[in-house]
Amino acid sequence: MKKVLSCIQPTGDMHFGNYFGAVKNWVDLQSDYNCVYGVVDYHSMTMPYKPKKLRENTWSLIFNLLAVGIKPENLFIQSLIPEHAELCWIFNCFTSYGHLQRMTQFKDKSSQSSEKDSGFISAGLLDYPVLQAADILIYHADYVPVGKDQEQHLELSRAIAQRFNNQVGKEYFVLPECLFTETPKILSTADPSRKMSKSAGEKHYINVFAEEARIRKQIKSAVTDTGDTPKGEISAGIKNLFELLKACGKSEAHDSLLADYTNGSLKYVDLKETVANALVELNTQFSNKRNELMSNKKEIKNQIKQSSFEIRQRAQQTVKEVKDLTGLVNVRF
Ligand code: TRP
Repeated sequence: MKKVLSCIQPTGDMHFGNYFGAVKNWVDLQSDYNCVYGVVDYHSMTMPYKPKKLRENTWSLIFNLLAVGIKPENLFIQSLIPEHAELCWIFNCFTSYGHLQRMTQFKDKSSQSSEKDSGFISAGLLDYPVLQAADILIYHADYVPVGKDQEQHLELSRAIAQRFNNQVGKEYFVLPECLFTETPKILSTADPSRKMSKSAGEKHYINVFAEEARIRKQIKSAVTDTGDTPKGEISAGIKNLFELLKACGKSEAHDSLLADYTNGSLKYVDLKETVANALVELNTQFSNKRNELMSNKKEIKNQIKQSSFEIRQRAQQTVKEVKDLTGLVNVRF
């Protein structure tokens, strides 16, 4: 079976944009591939953060991922596997400084943080993609399901793997590839000209684990027509509601409401109600699961520590082989 790896930063709430755009795909891939998924808390230290919040968000994300169907044995917490950081150091010495400076995400984030934090830009932010390469290569992953924004980071991972292989004279690392799956792009219901995202503020995303009433309210107040849609086209807001309905697996309701739209008989309240019901159905299922997991909080946390420990053995094996190949002193000297 081919190996799949992906990781996600612990940053608070999981919204339907994250779920339909990425996490649902991770859940589905588990039946066809050998998958490991990481919550990457080391990565979250690259930008200013609060220690208590980081730990809280890490566990909260673990519970969210388990609630939507990630299998516990496939899930790890990055900082419980310090070999990621160790391999990152070794990879630093196989990475060109100029290549890191040219990364788009570094340029974006460093300009953001220089505005906010009196010019402080951590070296971790520059090094971020090398740690990401370590996350991927340490498990010899064949495929990495990510969004288009991560393509450049994957290219860097391949460049590091290639340089390493050339220098040690052995095809040791697999060159990982992006796995782009067609996933729905969900927009903000409050402003369908932008993506659903947390950075724009609370009304721009619908939390997967929100109270039912809040979801209904957010859909009820979704922007539909803004009056500037060219004739014969569906407005971005309406298109987004149809997209959500399809993403929820309600294709029959989707097709019949779309037919109503086409013949001019669709009432937006009906569309909104159907979308709200579909989201609430998923929300109820996931929230119930999450509550069940939370009532065994301690056990579940131990289970994830155990799975991280087991996944760690694979990482340790890689680091041991890398030490042999790179001339570092190994345990058996
Ligand atoms: N950089 C990724 C993001 O911002 C998160 C990430 C860290 C990642 N390590 C990874 C993704 C390894 C895929 C594989 O989304």
